[in-house]
Amino acid sequence: MAIGVFDSGMGGLTVLKALRAQLHQESFIYLGDTARLPYGTKSPDTVKQYAMQMARVLVERGVKVLVIACSTATTAALPHLQQMLPDIPVIGVVAPGAQAAVSVTRNQRIAVIATETTIASEAYQGLILKQLPKAQIATRACSVLVALAEEGMMDNAVAESALKHYLDSFKDEDTLILGCTHFPVFTALLTKILPPEVSIVDPAQATSKALEALLKKQNLQNDTLQNQGSVQYLVTDSIQRFQKVGALFQGQPLLQSDIELIDACNPV
Ligand code: DGL
Repeated sequence: MAIGVFDSGMGGLTVLKALRAQLHQESFIYLGDTARLPYGTKSPDTVKQYAMQMARVLVERGVKVLVIACSTATTAALPHLQQMLPDIPVIGVVAPGAQAAVSVTRNQRIAVIATETTIASEAYQGLILKQLPKAQIATRACSVLVALAEEGMMDNAVAESALKHYLDSFKDEDTLILGCTHFPVFTALLTKILPPEVSIVDPAQATSKALEALLKKQNLQNDTLQNQGSVQYLVTDSIQRFQKVGALFQGQPLLQSDIELIDACNPV
């Protein structure tokens, strides 16, 4: 049985990459709701509806675990999906990301960049403060970065100036959480712009560890495969576009034959 992973679009591919690196014997079904992207500027109720539909598609395909590879959908829908699917473990990216930041910060000053809806939910802030009540958390909604990433503009002058614009308000933070799964594609630029003492936290790594622990605990690992598991991609809009931009996110080509178009309005 495969592991289901979904995002509003290509962003979750950064999570999928980390999951595959950690769990190479597992197979995955990745669903990008590309027809309805972005999620990050929509209301939590709308995102919750979309997330429920995406989860249903993956459950119909028989997944054994669901990973919400989208911070926005995690903040809007995680408890709801856990309730809706009592027999399938569901994890998101926010708690692992917050935990990773708590572990690396030295001065308890943490910056979070994410979408408008994620920042407004205060989910990262709440989880960090539970563990570090004196932490100072600075946040910035950077929705334009999602559009740049989906456009494949990951390492050019436009992306650099957008990042500088958004990072401008941060001061002494020693940790930056990439609180949107589209943002790890800017890591090369961020490393260039940020002072070297700032740790960049990509929740994908911590999520892959959390998933591995969960599979072990619930005895759900795939022990039968010797080689790398497979990935099947589902999208709600253009296969060609997903293939082209998805390759930039994954750092390797995507085969058109691995990508299937589904109807966002009648997804199952
Ligand atoms: N990748 C998503 C996230 O982590 C959302 C991007 C969007 O659709 O706005 O929040």
